[in-house]
Amino acid sequence: MSSSVIIGTQWGDEGKGKIIDIMAAKADVVVRSSGGNNAGHTVVHGSEVYKLHLLPSGILYPNTLCLIGSGVVVDPAVLLEEISEMQKRGISCENLRIDARADIIMPWHRYLDKLTEEFKAKQTGVNVGTTGRGIGPCYTDKDERIGIRMYDLCHPECLKKLVKNTGELKNLIIEKVYGGEPFDLDKVYEEYKAYGEKLVKYMDDVSVITFEAWKENKKVLFEGAQATLLDIDFGTYPFVTSSHPIAGGACVGTGIGPKMIDEVIGVGKSYTTRVGNGPFPTELNDKTGAEIRERGGEYGVTTGRPRRTGWFDAVIMRHAVRVNGLTSLAINKLDTLSGFPVLKVCTAYKTNDGRILKDFPVTLDELEKCSPVYEEIEGYDENIVGCRNYGELPEKCKAYIARLEELCECPISIIGTGPGRDDVIFR
Ligand code: GDP
Ligand code: IMO
Ligand code: MG
Repeated sequence: MSSSVIIGTQWGDEGKGKIIDIMAAKADVVVRSSGGNNAGHTVVHGSEVYKLHLLPSGILYPNTLCLIGSGVVVDPAVLLEEISEMQKRGISCENLRIDARADIIMPWHRYLDKLTEEFKAKQTGVNVGTTGRGIGPCYTDKDERIGIRMYDLCHPECLKKLVKNTGELKNLIIEKVYGGEPFDLDKVYEEYKAYGEKLVKYMDDVSVITFEAWKENKKVLFEGAQATLLDIDFGTYPFVTSSHPIAGGACVGTGIGPKMIDEVIGVGKSYTTRVGNGPFPTELNDKTGAEIRERGGEYGVTTGRPRRTGWFDAVIMRHAVRVNGLTSLAINKLDTLSGFPVLKVCTAYKTNDGRILKDFPVTLDELEKCSPVYEEIEGYDENIVGCRNYGELPEKCKAYIARLEELCECPISIIGTGPGRDDVIFR
């Protein structure tokens, strides 16, 4: 059996949840390795819609082990709420395990996320536009080596000490730097101790479980969250998240080696979207952009914010093919584009001094000097929602897919034709 990494190639929300859910039907293990509840992954099964933030997208299959790796930051209140919601819908979540090393999102992380965003907006007029879930501040504490981890959460004596030490430092920063309200640390301890008591049964060593599964020749799926252009190093820094959503993050955030990975599938949309601030070369601030948003239902799963929309950008896709070592692409939402007479695809960027760039620029300064070079492709009118066979697709749709493959320099192995589990074509 093989192991596959499934990651986002654009700025998130490419439909990773759907692809993982479909592939999980034949998988033994699904593991999340980065991010936290900034992610919102949608799984549609018949009339049932599941919006998952922390639970891996294999959770609907009771026999598939669902793991939260050490690279994930866990907000225990959100996770418990998600588990409870799933249980109300008849999904037991008994197949869930969380790595003891995973860092815990504390209330001061959420508060500092908001305070620093407000500070940045005041100072420079622009902030990142984070999800406000405390993701950046939690990863900062991890790197500073003052984080509170899953193991600590489940051991009251460790938790008490850490809430006092880290909490006092955070209260100082909140009060003295931002003039904010400090936290009552006794209350925080009691609240989090109760979370630990409920979550302890899920605590485990995800690195060992994943390795054992792999040794037994089981099928392992690594579920990416966020996406390549939101990567802390290879994204549009500083308008990025604080983790490594790229394929390499699957190793670091799970505790396995790169040789265990057989294929890397990059998930993208047939156009591009982004939530939050930061550069977006093919963005459409016009009627076409609004039409794509409405037709595609482009509103964030986590924050409900309208997503910015634009044409497909082959420059960022080639960047994703390279930094992730993609073996193939899954392109969703081909159904959303039907009815547009002309489809534009960005093939390269042109700098304001006339240079043509094939590769995504390293700095935002350089990116700001770029405008997209477009190729126009004839659109298709036919409704292709739920199409399950490549042969059934209109010729013009096939031509669009073939041109994307050429421009991205990567085969497209999966085509999404609707939100449902069955709305997919495997080639
Ligand atoms: P993720 O974060 O990458 O898992 O993606 P999201 O769940 O945030 O956003 C993707 C949205 O597109 C969800 O509402 C999905 O149900 C929907 N979706 C996924 N694939 C397709 C597709 O091929 N066609 C259509 N129409 N919707 C899709
Ligand atoms: P999924 O897994 C889309 C964006 C935020 C913001 C930036 C930093 O559903 O694809 P953060 O809260 O992480 O510090 O915010 O990253 N962002 C996402 N955008 N999909 C996501 O996840 C995202 N997770 C974070 O909007 O611009
Ligand atoms: Mg999403």
